[in-house]
Amino acid sequence: MPTQTVLSVVGARPQFIKAFPVSRLLRERCSEVLVHTGQHYDFGMSDVFFDELDIPTPEYNLGVGSASHAEQTAEMMRKLDEVVVAENPDLVLVYGDTNSTLAATLVAVKRTIPIAHVEAGLRSGDWSMPEEVNRVLTDHCSSLLFVPSDLAVKTLANEGITAGVVVTGDVMYDAITLVRDRARDESTILDEAGVEPGEYILATVHRQANTDDPARLERIVRGFVDAPLPVVFTVHPRTEAALKRNGLWELTTRELIVLEPLGYLDFVRLVDDADRVATDSGGVQKEAFYLDTRCVTLREETEWVETIESGWNELVGTDTDAIRTALRRTDELPPKPSLYGDGDAARRIVDAVVNAL
Ligand code: UD1
Ligand code: UDP
Repeated sequence: MPTQTVLSVVGARPQFIKAFPVSRLLRERCSEVLVHTGQHYDFGMSDVFFDELDIPTPEYNLGVGSASHAEQTAEMMRKLDEVVVAENPDLVLVYGDTNSTLAATLVAVKRTIPIAHVEAGLRSGDWSMPEEVNRVLTDHCSSLLFVPSDLAVKTLANEGITAGVVVTGDVMYDAITLVRDRARDESTILDEAGVEPGEYILATVHRQANTDDPARLERIVRGFVDAPLPVVFTVHPRTEAALKRNGLWELTTRELIVLEPLGYLDFVRLVDDADRVATDSGGVQKEAFYLDTRCVTLREETEWVETIESGWNELVGTDTDAIRTALRRTDELPPKPSLYGDGDAARRIVDAVVNAL
């Protein structure tokens, strides 16, 4: 086994899920130091995933927590730099497009440590979206870029990045494949929510553009209120605060089935059995696709354009009438293509990392 060290950095909910298939394989082949920045810290946003999935306990938790983009990123960088100096890693592995991703990238690139980026090559084209800034900067600093699709290869090539690009497929497909049966066997969330399979809509909302604009948030909630089926709404803490701030919490809890953020098994079970999902999440759009569930995306654009082209995902933005219409659509969906790999992305990522060491 190589004695080289990979420093993997996670911090937000989707990153725990992406690290779950990768870290277990990585530890069989080299030495991994897992760092949790503490960007997400509530039990339901963090510990639940480590408890129910086979994710190693992080060697470091930096406890950074919530703040403005600048403060949060700066604090992460300061603390990550200390870890990098102490551990002297040969490579830094980052996931997705959060502030934790960017902080680790900036620390590593300034210390001239190679960076490997899982979920590279994705673009929304919207530079006002914090994640777009994070992912573009991360890609341009990375020496290994793990992409989910051929389209992402082209996107990177258009920006002049061709070296180190590896088509791996999507690690979230690996994650779903690993837990789908367990979710069916173990989760009792449908009973707890009081819904029947195929007889409810699952909703999530947390994008800055939707939560920080009261008009957009209200239009979304009003679209859900008029849905033809009960809406199970798992509410991100950011969204709960925004709903309360804007006088929408009473309407939301009266008209919708409101749940706290759920663990992965319960959430996957809800996606699997939903009539459709309505979401502005990146990960949930793909999970709906993998689990044969129709998706209504509450944004004007998406990074996962292949799901739109397939007909299984529809971009509706935040117009209340457009949401209502999309939640009622009953047209037959076309046969589902296979997108984003075969559930073996983690192995390809680990192979490439070990080869690079
Ligand atoms: C972050 C990522 C986003 C990702 C999302 C996954 C950035 C810029 N954004 O957004 O790309 O899609 O995570 O969920 O990195 N909060 C809590 N408890 C927690 C975590 C957050 O109460 O455990 C609240 C705090 O009020 C905080 C707010 O949620 O200010 C936003 O959290 P933050 O991590 O800054 O951004 P997210 O919206 O979660
Ligand atoms: N998720 C979860 N519980 C929930 C909502 C989402 O486990 O209550 C999972 C979901 O299965 C997906 C990930 O969290 O794997 C998506 O995270 P989120 O929507 O917060 O972020 P994004 O993917 O938009 O970055």
